[in-house]
Amino acid sequence: MVDLSTTYLGLQLRNPLVASASPLSKHTEQVQRLEASGIAAVVMHSLFEEQIIHESLELDHYLSRSANFSSEASSYLPDTGEYSLLPEKYLEHVSKVKKAAGIPVIGSLNGVSKGGWVRYARLIQDAGADALELNLYYLPIDVALTAQELENAQVELVAAVKSSITIPLAVKLSPFYTCLPNFVQRLAGAGANGIVLFNRFYQPDFDIEDLAVAHTLDLSAPAELRLPLRWISIMHGTIESDLALTTGVHDHVGVLKAMMAGARVVMLASELLQRGPSRVPELLSDLTAWMTEREYTSIKQMQGSMSQQSVAEPAAFERANYMKVLGSYRDLP
Ligand SMILES: Cc1cc2nc3c(=O)[nH]c(=O)nc-3n(C[C@H](O)[C@H](O)[C@H](O)COP(=O)(O)O)c2cc1C
Repeated sequence: MVDLSTTYLGLQLRNPLVASASPLSKHTEQVQRLEASGIAAVVMHSLFEEQIIHESLELDHYLSRSANFSSEASSYLPDTGEYSLLPEKYLEHVSKVKKAAGIPVIGSLNGVSKGGWVRYARLIQDAGADALELNLYYLPIDVALTAQELENAQVELVAAVKSSITIPLAVKLSPFYTCLPNFVQRLAGAGANGIVLFNRFYQPDFDIEDLAVAHTLDLSAPAELRLPLRWISIMHGTIESDLALTTGVHDHVGVLKAMMAGARVVMLASELLQRGPSRVPELLSDLTAWMTEREYTSIKQMQGSMSQQSVAEPAAFERANYMKVLGSYRDLP
């Protein structure tokens, strides 16, 4: 019998497969289907800082009747489309999902500034979430903003969110930090129980006929796994927070690699959005079959077995590997 169980943020999970923040959690029935198919936990889609601020701006509009202020400010706010749930509705939805599901439910807040919206962390906890994921999605385009200033602000935000809740906190990051291990260590110091690597930035494209910016959302490809894989391998064993891998996991091999790098869980969005909950039992059975054949008895036994601290060639994760890989390229005949 192979033991697939793992722990993440202090939660006991029956296996390492977690439904990543996405429309997968939009409907309670879908979460129930995911649970029945074997998923171990679900991260809710995010409540965005902008949605919370938007609501309070609209409220200001009605209270102050300052039409100019409100319409101008609102024009900067993104259309959150699928996610255009009012904050109160989001909380109700978390509560409904929590009541309907037997697996842990992780709420998700997506924001960057240290404002009044942070109180929603506590409200998500009160709605019944077992843990909270804070997504620090931000694109620094201001030439005056330094990396140090940005990191300090984000560490302060994490500390502020952490101090307002008692449930565990995970922080989801993009890969674009100058010195990632140092930053992650600071986040752990500020109270992040888990670090989720990595958020995907959705890149705008150009429509060259209409000279317009095209907004497309491409799902991930398996090759994208390598970026979080490398960083989890490097950081496993060096920071106290649990590491979760998201981006590019599409099959059991991806799950195994993530575990070997040192992740506690993998978070899946693209694969489940494309293939549906019935993909989960396939992944679990492939995982079990692979492990049985190689005489692994548990997931915990393999976690971190290919981390930088464990492999025979630690330099493979670093600069030295760059020259080696470039040199190994063979030109076409
Ligand atoms: C349609 C869609 C919606 C998403 N919504 C959110 C979200 O609300 N909050 C969040 O943190 N990540 C969101 N993500 C990112 C996913 O949680 C995940 O981190 C990312 O897609 C990489 O994992 P994958 O390779 O399994 O897709 C979304 C992804 C997709 C495809």
